[in-house]
Amino acid sequence: MTDTRGQSAERVLAPNDIIVSKTDLQGRITYANDVFLTISDLTEDTALGQPHNIIRHPDMPAGVYQYMWDTIQAGQEIFAYVKNRATTGDYYWVYAYVTPSYDTRGTHIGYHSSRRAVTRDAITRVEQVYNAMKNAEHGLTGRARAHASLDVLTTTLERTGHTYSQWVWSLTHGDTP
Ligand SMILES: Cc1cc2nc3c(=O)[nH]c(=O)nc-3n(C[C@H](O)[C@H](O)[C@H](O)COP(=O)(O)O)c2cc1C
Repeated sequence: MTDTRGQSAERVLAPNDIIVSKTDLQGRITYANDVFLTISDLTEDTALGQPHNIIRHPDMPAGVYQYMWDTIQAGQEIFAYVKNRATTGDYYWVYAYVTPSYDTRGTHIGYHSSRRAVTRDAITRVEQVYNAMKNAEHGLTGRARAHASLDVLTTTLERTGHTYSQWVWSLTHGDTP
């Protein structure tokens, strides 16, 4: 789905839709629900076993993923705003809740993410911060790139007095500092 100028178009998640995926410890997709597959233009065959960055959108700052992985690898949960890209190039924003997952013996076996629709107002506010993070990444690669943009995020959060998840929560619930 593209607009008339041939540019990528936004896809909007229905209010009651939930996108679900599960990964192994390395972030390879082990489960994806139909909503995930449809909005991403994937099939089970093209999604399962693939690294989750197959739907990474280039507008997303590396620092957000660095923060996400630091958090979930430490056994914590995280809420995050994420812009994803379908295989056709269209994009969609989600409010994601990512957690570590464990088997019945308590062994850490992977991660789980469920995602819901976002408000336009929250996207506008998140984009301001993410754009500043992307600017800080300019000309950098690897860990230096992720850390430069994470510094911008940390500074922004220090100003608001929130953790990343608290900031995301406040945007979602209209309590933006
Ligand atoms: C459960 C889970 C869900 C994830 N969901 C997404 C997602 O929706 N979009 C995305 O781009 N990355 C997602 N990631 C993060 C990717 O694994 C990856 O870190 C990110 O796409 C950045 O990729 P890169 O380091 O190759 O740039 C998820 C990771 C986990 C563990």
